[in-house]
This record gives sequence, C-alpha cells and structure tokens, in this order.
Amino acid sequence: MSHYTIVSMPGDGIGRTVLPESVKVLHKAGLKADYLHGDIGWDFWCSEGNALPDRTIALLEKHKLGLFGAITSKPKWDADAELDPQLKGKGLVYYSPIVTMRQKFDLDLCVRPIRSFPGNPLNFIRKKLDGGFEEPIVDAVIFRQGTEGSYAGVEWTNPPKAVHDALCTHAKFKGFAGVKGEDLAISTRIVTRDATRRVVREAFEYAKRFGYKSVTVAEKPNVLRETSGMIESEARAIAKEYPGIALWSVNIDAIMMWLTKNPEEYGVFVCENLFGDILSDGFAGLVGGLGFACSGNIGREYAVFEPTHGSAPKYEKLSPSIVNPVAMILSAAMLCDHVGEQEKGDRIRGAVAEVVKEGRARTYDMMRLPGGPKVFEKGACTTQQMTEAILAKL
Ligand code: NAI
Ligand code: MG
Repeated sequence: MSHYTIVSMPGDGIGRTVLPESVKVLHKAGLKADYLHGDIGWDFWCSEGNALPDRTIALLEKHKLGLFGAITSKPKWDADAELDPQLKGKGLVYYSPIVTMRQKFDLDLCVRPIRSFPGNPLNFIRKKLDGGFEEPIVDAVIFRQGTEGSYAGVEWTNPPKAVHDALCTHAKFKGFAGVKGEDLAISTRIVTRDATRRVVREAFEYAKRFGYKSVTVAEKPNVLRETSGMIESEARAIAKEYPGIALWSVNIDAIMMWLTKNPEEYGVFVCENLFGDILSDGFAGLVGGLGFACSGNIGREYAVFEPTHGSAPKYEKLSPSIVNPVAMILSAAMLCDHVGEQEKGDRIRGAVAEVVKEGRARTYDMMRLPGGPKVFEKGACTTQQMTEAILAKL
C-alpha cells in the first residue's frame, strides 16, 4: 500500500474546523499519509501581503497533492484597508489564493459531484399530481473549467490606453468608448481551445467510465458567441467519439430553472469557470446545500481537494463548532479516488450515507435551524459528533 504526503491547508474560518475532521476520517479509512501544514488565506494577505505564500507553493510543488479547507476573500477596498500598514503603498494586490493556486498548478478540472444521500431531510422533493411527494435521486457531476473563463483575472477599472484603443476597434464598443476611464470596469472571459478540449474530453471519459447517459454543456452560445461558441463546437466534435453518450446543450440560465424541476434527468455537465461555480451551488441546494458539496481541483500533475463552501466567518468562533464536516469529508474521499484508492473513497461515502440515513447525528444545517449556539438544545450535533458518527461506521 502506498504512503502519501498531503499538503494540508486549512485556511480561514471554518476551513480550520473541518479540515482536521477529514483527516480523522482518512486515517480511519486506512489511508497511509503524512500531513504537512501549508499557510494560506486572509491572515497571510494582511501580515505578508500574500495570501498564498511561496513556502506553501514550494510544498505543493514538491508533494503535488493537497487538502484545502476554505479561505476568506474580501473586496479590494477591505484588502487595502486590512493590509499591514508597513506593506501599504508597495503596489501589493490581493488575489484569491485558491484561484491563484488553480492557475499556478494548472488545476484545470474542477470536478464537483452532487449526489443526494437518501434520508437527508434537505433533499429536493417534488409534489405529485395526486398530492403526494416524490424524492428524485440527484446524481450530477459538474466539470467546471478551473483556470480560465471569467476567472482568468484579466480585468481593469480604467483600462490602459492600449487596451482601450484595442477595444475601440470592435464595433460593439462604440457605445462605451466615451465613458470616462475611472467609470469603466472590464472583466474578460478567456477560453482556449486546448483547455476546452481537455475539460470536455474528461467529462465524456467520466460519463463513459461511470455509465452516465448524457453530457450537458451549460453555456450561452446564442449570446456569448465566441467563448461559449468554442466550448459548444469542441463538445460537438468530441461527442462524436462517444456514440453511447448523448450531448445535450442547455443555456446556463435555462439549466438553473430545469435543475429545480427535473434534476434527476441530468448526469455530467461541462461549463466554463464562472458558470460552473454557479451551477454547482445551484445543484448543491438540491442535496443539502454547502454542507454536502465537495470538489476536486485536478490538473495533469497536481490535485487539491476542497469543500465548495467558504470560511463562514460567522460560525468560526462557536465552541463547540456547529458546522457540517461532510463536504470536507466527501472531498477527502475524492482524494482517495484520485490516488487510486477508490475502495477507501467508497467506504467513506458509504459511511456518510449510513449516518445520513439513520438520522441520529445531524448538524444544524440538516435540521433547517438558523445557525448559532442554541442549535444543540434543539437536537443538532456538533461538528465533531458528526465526524464520530462517520468514524463509527468506518
Ligand atoms: P460560505 O460558504 O462561507 O457560507 C455561506 C453560508 O453557508 C454560511 O453562513 C452557512 O450558513 C452555510 N455553510 C457554509 N459551509 C457550511 C458548513 N460546512 N456547514 C454548515 N453550513 C455551512 O460563503 P460566504 O458566507 O458567502 O463567504 C464567506 C467567506 O468565504 C467569504 O470571504 C468568501 O469570499 C469566502 N469563500 C471562500 C471559498 C473558498 O475558500 N473556496 C468559497 C466561497 C466563499
Ligand atoms: Mg462557489
């Protein structure tokens, strides 16, 4: 059996709460690993002017495998205000460290499986014509391109003259050409053919391997004719090599409606970075919300696994902790799959499924309670109790 070295990056807020819980589960599942701590997050922006310090980059470069909790990201005026006074005026710019990490390590596939666990009181239900309810099983896997698109980071307020001049060569820019620089903000959406081909192919390969009947491109090619258009046309070309799998194309806005009507009809999805971010949160709402939403950032050489949720700062200081560790634990299960220990990943998911089905251990979110210290009086379990219930099943 292999022995792994995993860079453990708890980050901020509840990232620090849930990551250690996932390590307990990996250990119990029998994954042999050493964990090396990596600094990341808001504190390092404030104190060092870099939310992803070089020493963390070096650890990832060396070990190639990471677990990440969550970070706090704030708008640029807060980033400027909270920076150490000694670092101010040095031209430092805050970038989200997870977006930077995806780009730096070419973590170009952001894979987000969304599956309902039977017995979860938060699962999507639908009213039937006879007055009863049905609970369709949701099983969707989103392949979100992770390094480019709207999150490529190429953006300006008051674009430099060369950029402005170039934009003026486009007929559609005429209406904006006279806007004063400081009143003009531009974010680009960059799509490349190679990255598109890779995410589309990986989506089809996944569908083939796990028996999904469709791959749905969730874009907007009727309006975003160039970027969505390229994704759509590459998907059509690659789909020809997978005759048993249907290629569906549904606009991103339309899919946000369809997923709340017939989510069980969909399987694998492909989309650009921003659209995949939106779509995966939309789907997560059908299977229990952010407490259940796991993800993997998977490149050719490096991979980092993280829950979809953020640092939920309002719950950071509650002791005992109320937040749900399942999203982080399911992300750790994805790490097992990735390193070729799928049996361990399956056992972790199986243990979560049993705990959810039994319904004895439920964190506050699973009980639809407003978060706060009073949730325990109402029967919610702590973060650690949820982990313990999962460990017991393992
Ligand atoms: P969030 O995901 O941190 O929390 C939103 C709400 O979801 C929470 O208030 C809570 O009600 C619920 N929630 C989240 N995780 C939960 C869990 N494990 N168990 C139970 N309930 C949970 O998003 P928010 O509040 O919009 O952002 C907070 C900070 O996190 C911001 O600074 C944001 O930039 C950052 N963020 C970081 C992400 C990352 O690290 N990948 C992703 C999303 C947001
Ligand atoms: Mg998101």
